[in-house]
Amino acid sequence: MSSKIHTYPTESTSGLVEAIGVRYGINDPSRIVLGCGSDELIRMLTQAYLEPGDEAIHTQYGFLQFPIATKIAGGVPVSAPDNHYTASVDAILECISSRTKIVFLANPNNPTGTYLSNNELRRLRVELPSRVLLVLDAAYAEYVQMHDYTAGIDLVEQTDNTVMLRTFSKMYAMAGLRLGWAYCSDDIAATLYAVKPPYSVNALSLPAGVAAVNDLKFQKKSLSHNAIWLPWLQNEFKKLGMKPYSSVTNFFIIRLPKQAREYLVKRGIIVRSMSDYGKKEFIRISVGLEDDNRAVIAAMVDFFNQIEVRTQDLSL
Ligand SMILES: Cc1ncc(COP(=O)(O)O)c(C=O)c1O
Repeated sequence: MSSKIHTYPTESTSGLVEAIGVRYGINDPSRIVLGCGSDELIRMLTQAYLEPGDEAIHTQYGFLQFPIATKIAGGVPVSAPDNHYTASVDAILECISSRTKIVFLANPNNPTGTYLSNNELRRLRVELPSRVLLVLDAAYAEYVQMHDYTAGIDLVEQTDNTVMLRTFSKMYAMAGLRLGWAYCSDDIAATLYAVKPPYSVNALSLPAGVAAVNDLKFQKKSLSHNAIWLPWLQNEFKKLGMKPYSSVTNFFIIRLPKQAREYLVKRGIIVRSMSDYGKKEFIRISVGLEDDNRAVIAAMVDFFNQIEVRTQDLSL
């Protein structure tokens, strides 16, 4: 499709698009497409690029909206096995068929907190057929401190078949305002605008988004908080004999005995289970405020201190 059919950014959205461009070093903000959360952009991508029966690959423990959006569009989700809870480029490539239209990769991934390096992403893009759209969902990119990580801005700029998705729901803590954005080629942007509902992004989220991207002090504070409390939580679990998985985000997964999971709920701490992935013994714990973090650990200490709790009695 030609970029001439662009109807956005409009005057009302252009302020935010410009602010995103400045914050993220994007030279051509007209290739930024706003969405009512990145969930809406995922839906728009499947709607625009999948015909019934077409396949979209997602990773085994990848973000669940990928297979859901694929099915809603009449497509067939194909799951590429993870390697130790990390996406595997080789496994993704093995899933390619003549019907593959999209590869979805959350990088870093929710719920596992693991990521693929810049080199691995490049290898994936180079080895994927050029007709396959690579969608890099970098919802948690702002938290990642690894030198070999890229959210994908460079790949979008170097290739015309890669899309990067971002959200205001994580680092910016604006999930309820529903704001996400895609960065992609002119042609993909035009295609997205062609399927975009006319009134998706709400008027309140736009100035809030501008304020959020410009508030570097808040972003720094969140990062410092995470740098302290993520390892603190993981260490406290280790002291209790548990094995938290490493994570580059603001959450991690951990395998807990059934009784411990139930005990947390009894203490009013609702943790996210990975049961949707057939892994009910795993939970995902997000870093909270100091009191929340201490409350989780206090509950776990109490649980393991209970006289009647013996390791051999615990079931997963
Ligand atoms: C990897 C990933 N992508 C996208 C989203 C959706 O974010 P939004 O609130 O912008 O729709 C989430 C939210 O949980 C997520 O974890």
